[in-house]
Amino acid sequence: MITSKELRQKYIEFFKSKGHTQIPSASLIPENDPSVLFTTAGMHPLVPFLSGEKHPGGKRLVNVQKCVRTGDIDGVGNQWHLSFFEMLGNWSLGDYGRREALKWSFEFLTAVQYLGIGREKIAVSVFAGDDDAPFDEESYNIWLELGMPEERIYRYSKKENWWGPAGETGPCGPDSEMFYITDKEPCGKNCQPRCDCGKYVEIWNDVFMEYNKVNDGEYEPLSQKNIDTGMGLERMIAVLNGFNDDYQELLKPVVAKIEELSRKKYGKNYEVTRSMRVIADHIRAATFIMGDDSGVAPSNVDQGYVVRKLMRRAIRHGRLIGINQRFASVVARVVIQTMENVYVELNRNGMKVLSLIDEEEEKFLRTLQQGLKIFRKQVKKIDNKKISGKLAFDLFQTYGFPFEVISELAGEQSFSVDEDEFQKEFEKHQKLSRSASVGKFKGGLGDHSSKTIEYHTATHLLHRALRDVLGEHVEQRGSNITRERLRFDFSHGAKLADDEIRKVEEIVNQKIKDRLDVKQKEMSVEEAEKQDAIGIFRDKYGKRVKIYSIGNYSKEICGGPHVNNTSELGYFKIIKEESCSAGVRRIKAVLQ
Ligand code: ALA
Repeated sequence: MITSKELRQKYIEFFKSKGHTQIPSASLIPENDPSVLFTTAGMHPLVPFLSGEKHPGGKRLVNVQKCVRTGDIDGVGNQWHLSFFEMLGNWSLGDYGRREALKWSFEFLTAVQYLGIGREKIAVSVFAGDDDAPFDEESYNIWLELGMPEERIYRYSKKENWWGPAGETGPCGPDSEMFYITDKEPCGKNCQPRCDCGKYVEIWNDVFMEYNKVNDGEYEPLSQKNIDTGMGLERMIAVLNGFNDDYQELLKPVVAKIEELSRKKYGKNYEVTRSMRVIADHIRAATFIMGDDSGVAPSNVDQGYVVRKLMRRAIRHGRLIGINQRFASVVARVVIQTMENVYVELNRNGMKVLSLIDEEEEKFLRTLQQGLKIFRKQVKKIDNKKISGKLAFDLFQTYGFPFEVISELAGEQSFSVDEDEFQKEFEKHQKLSRSASVGKFKGGLGDHSSKTIEYHTATHLLHRALRDVLGEHVEQRGSNITRERLRFDFSHGAKLADDEIRKVEEIVNQKIKDRLDVKQKEMSVEEAEKQDAIGIFRDKYGKRVKIYSIGNYSKEICGGPHVNNTSELGYFKIIKEESCSAGVRRIKAVLQ
């Protein structure tokens, strides 16, 4: 049996031997990217570098990136769908092209000292071409040269063979996918990689990121041609070991704990198995989101709402399989134990995570009790088997039922719920202004509009100014930028006094008036530390880091981008200062 640990090691070792620099996983919470809630693929944190910025690790990178995808949370519970997973990736930032990428992928998959998969067990696909980009003949020919028989090279359209952009705009391109051919019977004469019958399992995707999708939906060439590849760790482990789902290795101890708590067996009854998968997956995802160094606590907005949704679905499925005591933190503890050797932040933040989970579970159990009564009473009054979005929203708002829970409860009694109406109500009540939250999803990945770049530079000034006014204990705990404002979370134990806020504003505005140049320089981590650069998450970058300095005032490890001179920023004003979580304050500020 090959373990995740061995697979990660082999992968990294292989690409290191091909001149790649290993970089650590970036945060699950995108920094300074208003367009997405979570890092859903290795490419997100690398967008500036796919667009031409210089990466301190060089042009060839390899990483294992933690990813969260919550777009199809209802799909969790089947064999293969996970909301949290690890993605192995190798990157060329304007360096090598299709030939090396495909050759190395095939070598890693088939060479005996690496994965040793039989060549006959692999099928591939390439982009068939359309109005936006031509047939990927180069990849097709490379596959032929590598010995792939013609009948196992499939040509698919954009729907299958194009990746990105993750938002509405940004880097993207055609891709070539690799599939493992299982021993399952084909579903019919026309069985092929793109059908869902399980005969073919997608194991790797090599994306040729050479286009930039712009606002009007057009594709223009990117300034450099890149390679972005992604291999799902759990999927590969399952394929290599002949497992029939994603829960047999890293998630196995987690499932075992759920078996113990419920006194039921995994794999016997479909409904029980499904609930166990939901619990294992959701608690793992929630633990990782809360345990990130820019971690987020359960709440009713943004990432916090997703954590709440994950937790509450997990807890409800616990009830469904007969776990009647508080249990989520017991399961989360196992997640931490199995993953903290790779993701050390889980160890650092573990105690905080467990207590957040206990709190959330307690809160939810109280409301669940009450809410279930109301729910039953209300549905008795309905005679068309339809729950209005308004009622669903009331249940959500007053009793904290996530929409999915309402919809599941409804489903159990063959009721439907008006989801569109619920969404409308939800949006109306979002705490953030409507315009800001729409902006968040519309912005598009790599939304480096000039306004967001200005806010990014202002954030550095704010960070430095907070340290000057409050003390060196101030550390960044999170940052989020939209076109409308910046938001900055930092460690500090007390509410800021009015004069402290004024002082911080004054300093930042003075630095803007001073017309300071913003410069970047690459250096070693040691050198950066010697220069007292603010290094937000030290383990985030490779050995060489990029430092942005603003005049002689601020020095911070950062990937950019920034304005060239502070005179571009306008007038800085703090519009809100509030508590974010224990020991963490939150500031929202605008540039006018
Ligand atoms: N970005 C590509 C994916 O996620 C590799 O499939």
